[in-house]
Amino acid sequence: MTWYVLAEGYVAAEGYVAAEGDVVAQDEVVARLRAAGCVFAEEEAAVLRDGDPAPELLAELVARRVAGLPLEHVVGWARFAGRRVLVDPGVFVPRMRTEVLVARAAAYVRTGSVIVDLCCGSGALGAVLAAGADGPVELYAADVDPAAVSCARRNVEPLGGTVYQGDLYGALPLTLRGRVDVLVANVPYVPTAEIALLPAEARLYEAPVALDGGADGLDVARRIVAGAGSWLAPGGQVFMECGEHQAAAAATALRAAGLNPSLHHDDDLDVTVVAGTRTH
Ligand SMILES: C[S@@+](CC[C@H](N)C(=O)[O-])C[C@H]1O[C@@H](n2cnc3c(N)ncnc32)[C@H](O)[C@@H]1O
Repeated sequence: MTWYVLAEGYVAAEGYVAAEGDVVAQDEVVARLRAAGCVFAEEEAAVLRDGDPAPELLAELVARRVAGLPLEHVVGWARFAGRRVLVDPGVFVPRMRTEVLVARAAAYVRTGSVIVDLCCGSGALGAVLAAGADGPVELYAADVDPAAVSCARRNVEPLGGTVYQGDLYGALPLTLRGRVDVLVANVPYVPTAEIALLPAEARLYEAPVALDGGADGLDVARRIVAGAGSWLAPGGQVFMECGEHQAAAAATALRAAGLNPSLHHDDDLDVTVVAGTRTH
């Protein structure tokens, strides 16, 4: 599908034509969203109205949201860890639960740190880490999906970072080997058989490669772990997100790769962050 820009920050599917009389009065927006089943209709209405779009544009945005597109794909951005991250159509929308991973990784970022964001999607994790650092850092991000890479470039390059396209570590310049202080990787970790159970917003509007983690969900995570020892600097750490039921297997893989594992579960957001440190 081709998309075109309607106005700064907004995109619409090619061929979309707002119907006559499709202009939504401001006070109707919440009602339309609620009728379409949006649980947080007021909050979503505020996001759709952000930037004070013209009535015709607002009508188009509301229509697309009511049709089921993820809010972030409708407006072209997501709020993540206090930052506005650009999100292009088809690119994984950064989730609030991933802020837990970012907060844990941020505690290890220092001025001059080498940060790598693998499976970067929109580049949200690396962008937040670099923007929140006390001083300059080196930021590198990579993804296999060209749409994600082009989106990540818009978020990461303004911060002085570089985005590569390719398969995991294969995308990175060899000069980074043994130099990475903080490696974040929010990999796809949904077991293949559970993809069908995901909400439609994910199944229909995010790329399968962003979701499918193989039979037990840990295929990509295991490959990240296997390579981490040779890419991390001594004392460097890798951070990944997974489900609670996957944490023990992820920790076992980290130990087998010679890394010192630690686990953190966040009850509120129901997410587990596994970390591994290169100790020698
Ligand atoms: C769950 S999404 C996470 C995106 C981003 N890190 C975030 O949290 O918003 C997983 C990402 O991994 C990428 N990916 C999957 N397999 C990959 C591989 N073998 N090499 C590089 N990227 C990969 C997908 O394209 C997708 O953008």
